[in-house]
Amino acid sequence: MDITTNNRIETEFNNRHLDVLIPADVLQARIRELGAQIARDYEGRTPVLVCVLKGAMVFMADLIRAIDLHLNIDFIAVSSYGAGTRSTGEVKIVKDLDGPIEGHDLIFVEDILDTGLTLSYLLENFRARGAASIRIAALLNKPERRKIEVHLDYKGFDIPDKFVVGYGLDFDERYRNLPYIGVVRNAE
Ligand code: IMP
Ligand code: MG
Repeated sequence: MDITTNNRIETEFNNRHLDVLIPADVLQARIRELGAQIARDYEGRTPVLVCVLKGAMVFMADLIRAIDLHLNIDFIAVSSYGAGTRSTGEVKIVKDLDGPIEGHDLIFVEDILDTGLTLSYLLENFRARGAASIRIAALLNKPERRKIEVHLDYKGFDIPDKFVVGYGLDFDERYRNLPYIGVVRNAE
């Protein structure tokens, strides 16, 4: 396969219900920058990259391959959203980390920082559990929606207050497999 055909992936995957907000090649370029920055910041250490399931799994997969370091990976699942596009405001750990926390340098990898409820809860919870350090990498940030202030150490893109899908993010479990970030037309 001719690798240059990847440049047309947005149109091939396009869908009449979606507008492209961030094309695949722009995502990949930014993730390479974030990975290089993390590698510089954690030189000589072995951070644990913690993927917040399910939305961050695509970002996580690309981000770890952009970090030229020894690292560990782990996964956590929290429930913060029900079906549809409205936040329930409820945060619960559904699946906890498998590996140890105490003394480790954790980097939470999130798809999007929206109200901040999920990450502020995770930060508080894991600080109490003795992590040596905790930082946050989020691909997307919607500053207009913030209810609780959360410091983002590694941020991909600021985006407007629109419901986005693709590259791991879903609308009722759909669209996670899109290689770009799109906006759903007429999302409730
Ligand atoms: P927060 O707790 O409000 O910051 O929400 C974080 C979670 O809500 C993210 O990890 C996503 O799973 C979900 N979320 C927030 N905004 C969007 C969006 O625009 N599209 C899809 N999921 C979203
Ligand atoms: Mg999520």
